[in-house]
This record gives sequence, C-alpha cells and structure tokens, in this order.
Amino acid sequence: MDKLLITGGKRLSGEIAISGAKNAALPILCAGLLTSETLQLSNVPHLQDVTTMLKLLRQMGMRTEQDGDRLALDAGAIERLEAPYEMVKTMRASILVLGPLVARFGEARVSLPGGCAIGSRPVDQHIKGLQAMGAEITIEAGYIHAKAKKLKGARIVTDMITVTGTENLLMAATLAEGETILENAAREPEVTDLANLLVAMGAKIDGIGTDRLVVQGVDRLHGASHAVIPDRIETGTFLCAAAAAGGDVTLTRTRSDILDVALDKLREAGVVITTGPDWIRAQMAARPKAVSFRTTEYPGFPTDMQAQFMALNCIAEGSSRVTETIFENRFMHVQELNRLGASIDIDGHTAVITGVDKLIGAPVMATDLRASASLVIAGLAAQGHTLIDRIYHLDRGYDRMEVKLSAVGADIQRTK
Ligand code: EPU
Repeated sequence: MDKLLITGGKRLSGEIAISGAKNAALPILCAGLLTSETLQLSNVPHLQDVTTMLKLLRQMGMRTEQDGDRLALDAGAIERLEAPYEMVKTMRASILVLGPLVARFGEARVSLPGGCAIGSRPVDQHIKGLQAMGAEITIEAGYIHAKAKKLKGARIVTDMITVTGTENLLMAATLAEGETILENAAREPEVTDLANLLVAMGAKIDGIGTDRLVVQGVDRLHGASHAVIPDRIETGTFLCAAAAAGGDVTLTRTRSDILDVALDKLREAGVVITTGPDWIRAQMAARPKAVSFRTTEYPGFPTDMQAQFMALNCIAEGSSRVTETIFENRFMHVQELNRLGASIDIDGHTAVITGVDKLIGAPVMATDLRASASLVIAGLAAQGHTLIDRIYHLDRGYDRMEVKLSAVGADIQRTK
C-alpha cells in the first residue's frame, strides 16, 4: 500500500496548476447518461474517483475515450441499468446514476450506499424527490429499484440542503414531463457547473446558482462540449499548505470567486492573498493566527475545507473553535493531528484547538479524503519525518498531490 513520507519545515515557493473539480466532474460524467449523443468534456481531473465512475459507466455500456484531461462520453448503447454494490461501496457518488437512468430509461437498480467514515449519509431525499416525480421505488436486497414510465414534474422541498440530492433530481427533471421546482436546492458551484452543462445539452433551467431551480422538462437532450470548473477544494488545500509551511505560492487555472469565505479566513490567519482572473497568490512570512469557523452549505465555510484549516490552527498563535454542522463524524483527523503534537479537544460537534509552537513528525493514518489532506499540511509544517499510511483516500480526490507539492519545494515522496 502506498504511503507518503514528508520531511517538514521547507518553505513553499512557485506555481501550482489546479485541476478540474472532482465534485463537478462526477455528476457531469453521470449527465452523459441523459443523451444518446456525445459529450465532449475538458479539464477532467485524473483521480481515482473519476476512474471508478468511468468503470461504472462502462459497465452500463457507455463508450468513453480519454485523451489527457479530455474525455468523450457516448451513452448511445446503454444495456445495463444497474450500479452494483461492489462499486457503490467504494464510491458513494455512484448514486448519481439513479436520476439520469430513471429519467431516460424508466428504470434503475442502484445499491443503497452504507454509512461511511464521515457520517451515516442517507439518500432518503434522492428517493423522496424521485417518488414525488412519480417513480415507484422499492428497496430490495440492499438495492434501490426505481421505475417510472415517464417522470412527471413536481414541486420538491428537500428536508435539508443536499448537494448530490439536488444534482440527481435536477438531472431527472430535465427529461420529466412538465415543470419541476426544486426548493432548498444546494447552491454549490459544482451544482451550477452541472446545471450549465445541462443547459448546453438543451435542458431548460431557471434559477441556476440560487436555492430554487425551476426546470421545464424536454423530450430529449443532445450532445455538448463543456470544461469542468476548477477544484476549489484542491485550491484551498494548497493555500492552507502554503499558509502552514510559509512561503509564496501562486495557484493558476483556478477561480477566487468560488472560495470567498476560505480566502477571508486565510487573510484573518495572516496570509497575504492577492487574486487575478484565474489565479490566487498566497504569501506567508509569519506564524498563522488562529481562526474559528462553522461549516455550512455554500456560500458558507465548506465542510470539505474543515480538516485542512484545523491543521493550520494546530500551529497557530491562539486558540480556535471549529464547529462541523454538515456531517456528524467528520473529526477523524483529530486523533492523528494530536499524534503529531497538536492540542485538540472535541466537545460534541465542536473542536477546540489550542495552537502549539511546533508539531513533530510521526507515523499517522489517513481516514478519509480531506482528513488525509490535513495530515499532509500538518506534515509539511512539522519538524522531522511524517509517514502517512492509507493514502488511497488522498488519491481518490487529489490529482498527484505529491508531484504538485514537490514542484514548489516540499520534501514529499510516495513510498510503497
Ligand atoms: N443527507 C440526508 N439525506 C439525503 C442526503 C443528504 O440526510 O438524502 C444529509 C447528509 O447525511 C449530510 C447532509 O445531508 O449530513 C449533507 O449531505 P450532502 O447530500 O450535501 O452530501 P453529498 O452530496 O453526499 C457532497 C460532496 C461531499 C461534500 C458534501 C457537502 C460530492 C460527490 N460529494 O456530498 O464531498 O462534503 O457534498 O458539501 O459532491 C469530499 O469531496 O471530500 C466530499 C465528502
């Protein structure tokens, strides 16, 4: 199993090009199921989750052609309307095939995802929404079996804001008969990117970027070309790395307008942030200052940046409170950060972090994707060697992170 060996204490300097967003690419790949014509995608990131999603789609009969970050998808000959347990258990985002399959083919069998490292994560809202659109849904032998001759437009108010739930229902609504209104919709930039692609495919969607999406169903969607938006979480992760290790790093091929709150928090921590149309520069010469925050849905502070900012808070001047409101169990990195010498106490959904002068490298274990990223950041700031085990979590969502960090002066190596 691969591990990462980091020797901390090196300042970072130079440029890093940001990849396409994982959480935009995954629903966009599933949107390929909505048409028999070809989708031409660019800026598709090289990640394990993208590989897994492509494997799932190929099993269904989708033809795919990959050339660097370009990808052509052809769902003209889909023969299997199923996402098996073996695939869904490795990647929960497989649930995103449910809406498109029912909408275009009238049937789908998708394994019910189980709990995962960061929380129980049910999919009841995806099911509730499809039922409101007339789908008949049964749960049998661990599978969601959905059937509908033709989905019908409906007004759907989800109990909570759900990102993949909004995406699934939005995709389903594009081919439903009549008007669908999605209230309490997620406004994450990745939802907006999917909506923009669907419009390019011929979908009729109003309210893009708001919490009320109004969709007029059409009979069919057609092929389109689309560039995936930059990964705001990869961007934020490298900004935290620069803030923790110190230095002067410019991130290119990215956007600052989808990271406002995280950028404000970095400024509050003492990082000098400057931005241009497609770049963000972070300069950090001093010890960071502690910053408190609560995670919330977009445009609030993203839960996917919580662990990385916590790593920064570990070495900051002062103490901070970090409250996680989206997932019930997203503090798995706390024990590992404490193994590096951090001082973090958990009080319910809040972590109380007392900044320490230094962290000291140690062997640690990655437990989920963003927890892994926080350990890399801590390792870059720590004295001596940090060996991170189970980095397959990291490879699911970061495109060659160690290569990108080495290029700006980090001492980080992949070992077998
Ligand atoms: N929820 C329900 N029922 C549902 C759907 C959601 O109770 O039917 C709950 C969840 O358990 C959670 C909350 O609602 O407590 C929000 O979950 P959401 O559905 O928004 O999460 P998701 O769609 O499963 C996506 C991202 C996550 C990111 C969250 C929150 C993808 C593929 N995944 O998950 O990304 O943390 O939104 O922003 O888009 C990551 O990249 O590391 C990651 C975990």
